[in-house]
Amino acid sequence: MDTFEAIKTRRSIRAFKDKTIPRDILEKLVDAGRFAATARNVQPWKFVIVTDKNTLKKLADLAENGRFISGSAACIAVLCEETKYYLEDGCAATQNILVAAAAEKIGSCWVAGDKKPYAPAVNELLGAPDKLKLISMVALGYPQDADALKAADKISLKELIHWEKY
Ligand SMILES: Cc1cc2nc3c(=O)[nH]c(=O)nc-3n(C[C@H](O)[C@H](O)[C@H](O)COP(=O)(O)O)c2cc1C
Repeated sequence: MDTFEAIKTRRSIRAFKDKTIPRDILEKLVDAGRFAATARNVQPWKFVIVTDKNTLKKLADLAENGRFISGSAACIAVLCEETKYYLEDGCAATQNILVAAAAEKIGSCWVAGDKKPYAPAVNELLGAPDKLKLISMVALGYPQDADALKAADKISLKELIHWEKY
């Protein structure tokens, strides 16, 4: 799939088929994450791929707006060392994962991590060091609705774009 099509067809999917995502594809998504732009090339990120149903259920129980993680095939937790630009870096990595998932026709949804009260509990559940900041949890799975991955309705380009000056 062409990059721009992947960017445009990425949208948040929260209902997934009960179908496993192959391990090599999950690694490919993390690979996309690690190629994100990162301030001063610090690459402060670590990624935890969760496929165990029991752990997915526990993550879902922790994240008040991520209950659907329990029905996902996998969830990638993006964690960062607390560097100056850790949040920007971790968000860039997260977005790369979402777009790469869309390119693989895999549905995804970003579940908030940074600043969430449940972040330390997620670290503990995943065995991640306390000092790592939880940026996001990306729920992943093949969409229940096969037509789900199509461009969402967004604010038009015309309303957002300014040439040369605002
Ligand atoms: C920083 C951030 C945190 C988000 N957290 C959640 C979340 O906790 N739960 C959720 O269902 N969606 C979450 N989302 C997804 C947004 O709700 C979604 O991107 C937005 O509604 C636009 O829809 P779209 O992704 O289909 O374009 C989050 C997105 C971002 C960027």
